[in-house]
Amino acid sequence: MSFPDVRPRRLRRTAAMRRLVEETRVAPAELVLPLFLKEGLTEPRAISSLPGVVQHSRESLRKAAHQAVSAGVGGLMLFGVPDHAAKDETGSGGIDPDGILNVGLRDLISEVGDSTVVMGDLCLDEFTSHGHCGVLAADGTVDNDATLELYGQMAVAQAEAGAHVVGPSGMMDGQIGVVRRALDNAGHQDTTVLAYAAKYAGAFYGPFREAVESTLQGDRRTYQQSPGNVREALREVELDVAEGADIVMVKPALPYLDVIAAVRDRVDVPVAAYQVSGEYAMVEAAAANGWLDRQGVMLETLTSIRRAGAQIILTYWATEAAQLLRDRY
Ligand code: PBG
Repeated sequence: MSFPDVRPRRLRRTAAMRRLVEETRVAPAELVLPLFLKEGLTEPRAISSLPGVVQHSRESLRKAAHQAVSAGVGGLMLFGVPDHAAKDETGSGGIDPDGILNVGLRDLISEVGDSTVVMGDLCLDEFTSHGHCGVLAADGTVDNDATLELYGQMAVAQAEAGAHVVGPSGMMDGQIGVVRRALDNAGHQDTTVLAYAAKYAGAFYGPFREAVESTLQGDRRTYQQSPGNVREALREVELDVAEGADIVMVKPALPYLDVIAAVRDRVDVPVAAYQVSGEYAMVEAAAANGWLDRQGVMLETLTSIRRAGAQIILTYWATEAAQLLRDRY
């Protein structure tokens, strides 16, 4: 036999052969679209650091939800952006049934029903005047246990608005247990909890802060994790599963593929990953300069996140990627 004896290129010769042996595929149903609803808007408003993403009006939110469902997207994650005047020290707008997030959840459910999975971001940062994910103690630190009480109320309000899933994202200790108990006590045993279990305090959330008009002073390093830690992420994930998380999420996604893989190995619940605003904005900016093939990089990043072990991916590209993927397979 002539050298080389083994020829891996045989499996790459034609598109049909490559398709036959492809190990990882992303299905539209695995993608979740994050959506922003801004109080008082009559027209959608562009977000300059997130080209192609908007702050929705109630009407445009319904349209975007409808398009996403038509494309086969698996879920919608809603963020509420209240009027600045509606923000206060305790983030009460997040709990108010007439607060913008709960209003939007009701709109989404009336638009899409059970045809996709409607999720609410469960965190106070959009609703607090200081922009932190929880309430502040007298010394200015984020008060873990006082915050938990409010998360429980917020979860019930979202379930009552019809959310299929609540997504506690504040990284408070005990948040999953408190949310689960509050839901159960209010008769919402069937509301699913998606835990932002390993969420890193990094610099990739910049454009999101513009999207939600965040007023954050300082940073979130006393509650979100340090980028170098992976064992700590596993501990967070195990605690969340023990407290009742139905799905666990790692965030951001692409810079933390090793964390996604480690989490996937450790637990048996579904693993999600959030491709955050900074990941999206980097690609959009490079593509706008003609430096990257936008769709190529989009699909490659999603494939990489899927390959690392996330079976659910939150991405601002969800609708477009779902359309592309549907045509592809
Ligand atoms: C907190 C929250 C944030 C994001 C999602 N939920 C911001 C933060 O933790 O500072 C960021 C998402 C993104 O950057 O796309 N409610």
